[in-house]
Amino acid sequence: MKKLVRVTLVLLALAVVLAAVYACDNQKETGGQASPGGTQNSADPGNSGAQSSSSSSASPTPDSAQPTQLDPGTEDGQAAGYTVETGVLIMATNAEFPPYEYWEGGKIVGIDAEIAEAIANRLGLTLQIDDIDFDAIIAAVSSGRVDMGMAGMTVTEDRMESVDFSTSYATGVQVIIVKEGSAITDVDDLFADDASFDIGVQESTTGDLYTTWDLEEEGLATIYRFRRGADAVQALVTGRVDCVVIDNEPARAFVAMNPGLIILETEFAVEDYAICFAKGSTELRNAVDAALRELIADGTVQRILDKYIAAD
Ligand code: ARG
Repeated sequence: MKKLVRVTLVLLALAVVLAAVYACDNQKETGGQASPGGTQNSADPGNSGAQSSSSSSASPTPDSAQPTQLDPGTEDGQAAGYTVETGVLIMATNAEFPPYEYWEGGKIVGIDAEIAEAIANRLGLTLQIDDIDFDAIIAAVSSGRVDMGMAGMTVTEDRMESVDFSTSYATGVQVIIVKEGSAITDVDDLFADDASFDIGVQESTTGDLYTTWDLEEEGLATIYRFRRGADAVQALVTGRVDCVVIDNEPARAFVAMNPGLIILETEFAVEDYAICFAKGSTELRNAVDAALRELIADGTVQRILDKYIAAD
C-alpha cells in the first residue's frame, strides 16, 4: 500500500514538471513573436500585419559583378554587430515612388533598391527591404527597428534632428503637376495674392512640408495629403485638387501613366537625396557611407540612375 502511494506521488510530480516545461515553452514562442525589434524575417508575413506594411527581400540582379572590397572589420568579412540582425541590412522604404522604389513582379525594384543591394554586397550583408508608410520611416530608423531608411528621402534640417544622413547620392526637384489647360502655369501662380488652390501631396514628404509652410499657413492654399503619391495624382485626374507637388522623377512616371497631365517647367525646390540612420549608429553609417562613396566613385550609382531615368 505504501509503495503504491509513493509510485503515485512520483508520477504526479513528473506530470507537474512536464506540464511546467510545456507551459514555459509555449510562453517563449508567444513572447518571441510579440517582442518588437526582435529578429525579423523577410519571409515572415506576421511582421507585416503589425506594421501595416509588407516586407520583402528585393534582390534586383546587379548588372555587374560587385567586388567585396570593404572589410567591415570582422574576420569572415561579415558585418557582425552593427546591424539590427547579424548579416542582414534592413532598409525601410515606401515603395510607392517610381523609379526610386516600386513593386514589380512581386518584388521591390528601383534605383534605391539597386544601390542598397550594391551596398549590401560590398559589406557582405543580405539586403532586406521593408515597405512601410513614408511618414513611418524616420521612426522605424530612429527607434532601431531597421538599419536604415532609403526612400528618395530629402535631407532637411528638421529630419537631421531625428536621424543622421549619408552622403547624397541623387538630386530631387519638387515639381508641379497640373491638368493640361490648367489656370496654374507657373509656380508664381500658387503664390499670387489672391491664390486659393487645392494642392495634393504625399503625406509628410517635402512637397507636403513646403506647401504647408509656404502656402497653407499663408492662407494661399488648401493642402490635401495622401498616403501615396499616386493617390494625389488620381485626385488631380478626378478634379479634387488643382495640382500636385511631388518629386520630379515620380512625377514623370505618374504623368506617363495618366494622359492629360503635364509637369510645369518651373521648379518648386531642388533637394538632395540621402540614406538615413539612427543618430549615433556611427559604425553602420560609416560602413554604408564608405561603400556608397565607392559606388559613386566607380560609376555604379550613375549607371543605376541612367538605367531607370531616361534622358530627354
Ligand atoms: N523627397 C521627398 C521627401 O524626402 C519625397 C520622398 C518620398 N519617397 C517615397 N519613397 N515615397 O520628402
